[in-house]
Amino acid sequence: MDWSSRVRKAVHRLKPYVPGKPIEEVQRELGLTEVIKLASNENPLGPSPKAIEAAKKILPEVHRYPDDSYYRLRHKIAAFYNVPTDWVLLGRGSDEILLHIVQTFVEPGDEVVFSTPSFVMYDILSTLMDAVCVKVPLRDFVHDVGGLLEAITERTKIVFVDNPNNPAGTILRDRALKSLLSEIPEGVIVVLDEAYAEFVESPDYPKSLDYVREGYPVIVLRTFSKAYGLAGLRAGYGFARPEITQHLLKVREPFNVSSVAAAAAEAALDDTEFLDRVRKTVWAGKRLMYRGLEQLGLRYVPTEANFVLIDVNLPAKKVADALLQKGVIVRPCEPFGLPTHLRVDVGTPETVEKFITALKEVLRETATS
Ligand SMILES: Cc1ncc(COP(=O)(O)O)c(C=O)c1O
Repeated sequence: MDWSSRVRKAVHRLKPYVPGKPIEEVQRELGLTEVIKLASNENPLGPSPKAIEAAKKILPEVHRYPDDSYYRLRHKIAAFYNVPTDWVLLGRGSDEILLHIVQTFVEPGDEVVFSTPSFVMYDILSTLMDAVCVKVPLRDFVHDVGGLLEAITERTKIVFVDNPNNPAGTILRDRALKSLLSEIPEGVIVVLDEAYAEFVESPDYPKSLDYVREGYPVIVLRTFSKAYGLAGLRAGYGFARPEITQHLLKVREPFNVSSVAAAAAEAALDDTEFLDRVRKTVWAGKRLMYRGLEQLGLRYVPTEANFVLIDVNLPAKKVADALLQKGVIVRPCEPFGLPTHLRVDVGTPETVEKFITALKEVLRETATS
């Protein structure tokens, strides 16, 4: 039987998420031993060592379900950010909290507004809920506050803002965010997705929790996947006022964060030495990357995240495929509507050098072929 006719129309409209290729797959398919992955905005230094230790320690207990109130992790996050515990949301990655948000607030036909390009899950999850996705182009690779405000109608439920933006790595500065929030009509929630917040260097980056404190209709999302290096464990968190969190908690599945992920996340928050090292590595790595790109005469978007958007002036897929043959996995940005751009993680100095060397070779080979 062909089940297509039984599938929800929203599912037919979905374009599945395309993740970066895993290292093992590339090794297997191309017979390469040395492969570096710079395609999923992952942590260049691996996981927090304290988190690894905590994860190992809890393994003998995994025959038990997690504490469904996640008492310790929620209290730790609340204390760390100096907010009440009932503001804290937890998810299997911040992806899952995004899902909870659309499941809680979006009726079929409601509108959600976000920039294009931005994190692809806003589109996928909203489409799944039969929402109408209203997309506002970035302006010079930065969220266009005027455009976002103009796109809001009576049907709008949510505005998603990834700050920093994925794939551009740019931020919405505090003044711009304030002007967005001060004009948001009543009943519209602004989701500030701060997956890369820990990498931001700019002093103008908003202190978004202050907006929650001041009573703006804001949900702030954070994750343990990036700066803390726990992407494989899946743990994300967020903050909102209890008027909002009480509803989100109703759609949450019990035990949605594994006990291993919760224990590791808790330990990771304490690992300030690791976080410090990660940030310094990324900040030094991006400067090294800029220098290499400038020497190659390529334009890039200065980043506040742990990845750089690069215009290679050639079809990005072709360049990404050629880099793959050399064991370097990067993200071509056609699916983001950027046909000549690559998004590349900032790695350690060694991986940045390897990437720049491989890119140089690919550009030379392309010019002579
Ligand atoms: C902007 C943004 N938000 C959220 C996520 C999801 O992160 P996770 O579900 O691993 O917490 C990502 C992942 O790449 C992202 O780029």
